[in-house]
Amino acid sequence: MQLTEELIAILSDGCVHSGEALGVSLGISRVAVWKRLKKIPELGLEVETIKGKGYRLPGGVDLQNSSQIYSSCSDVNREFITSIDIFFQIDSTNTWLSAQARTSNITGRVCLAEQQTAGRGRRGREWHSPFGRNIYMSVGWEFTQGAAALEGLSLAVGVALIRALSSIGVTDLALKWPNDVICSGKKLAGVLIEMSGDASGSCSVVVGIGLNVDMVSTGAPNIDQPWIDVVTALNRGVSRNLLVGLMLGELFPILRGYQECGFAQYQAEWNGLDYLAAQDVELLGAGNRVTGVGHGVDPTGALRIKTDLGMQLIKGGEVSLRKVES
Ligand code: ATP
Ligand code: BTN
Repeated sequence: MQLTEELIAILSDGCVHSGEALGVSLGISRVAVWKRLKKIPELGLEVETIKGKGYRLPGGVDLQNSSQIYSSCSDVNREFITSIDIFFQIDSTNTWLSAQARTSNITGRVCLAEQQTAGRGRRGREWHSPFGRNIYMSVGWEFTQGAAALEGLSLAVGVALIRALSSIGVTDLALKWPNDVICSGKKLAGVLIEMSGDASGSCSVVVGIGLNVDMVSTGAPNIDQPWIDVVTALNRGVSRNLLVGLMLGELFPILRGYQECGFAQYQAEWNGLDYLAAQDVELLGAGNRVTGVGHGVDPTGALRIKTDLGMQLIKGGEVSLRKVES
């Protein structure tokens, strides 16, 4: 993989590179270059051969790069970052960072991947993660007051994502309880928070974020619900490194203050963004079906549904919320 990574890094500028020049840069023969080039399409990238001249990746690829991410963060937020690990290919950034948490303090650690081979959504669902198109990011943080103090955290992360996306001009954004960022009625991003450690004391939290940036050309045939990406929403290109920096800039202050202040300080903002406010909804899970009208969330992040039997509070867990089309 290492040589393929180096080859893609050279070709990422979208310019034509001769087989000979690639061989010199990588310290391998032209035949070896050719063999490596044949592996690139396996990642979903097209390699164009220009007869007599060389090879290129049409349009190039905007690879993630830690120095560009650092420079798109403010000085204050840069100080929160303890490491940035960027993988070309990994099973899941959440799985990787959760494994690090078993042996070290993960506060401020950021893990990114160009591609996930086993990206995960909630409840074991697949998160479609093609190469070089989107952001697959996990951020670690250690807390000391147990899981109860972290109620509503995934909703607060949604607020952070909306703030970052709004700052570059994405409009028509909303949040769907508990973990989806919606743009123009389609899924743009998802949040998967995983905890380990002592449920009533020290625990490590991995905040996983999947944000679609430029996925339209891949077709994404496996996604079974309407989705959108940032490039489509903005109708222009955008740097993933900039987006990562902006998201970290919104995320770190929330993580830093969460134990003290909890979700309550984000409740009003979340409710102002609620995709299903005043909509007919159904909640499915654990063999139950609750129907009613969405009434936002309470100060802990629990969903409020007004049913025939009165207001019901849903704390989260193995449930799915759906709009009921009338
Ligand atoms: P809920 O959590 O309320 O059940 P959900 O259907 O969005 O909502 P999640 O587990 O949150 O379920 O997200 C996983 C789902 O998201 C997948 O089943 C698929 O439909 C969709 N999905 C997978 N990859 C992507 C992606 N890159 N962009 C948008 N949607 C995706
Ligand atoms: C969802 O909508 O269910 C949440 C999707 C979360 C996907 C991200 S991508 C980075 C991190 N690694 C994973 O395997 N999942 C999260």
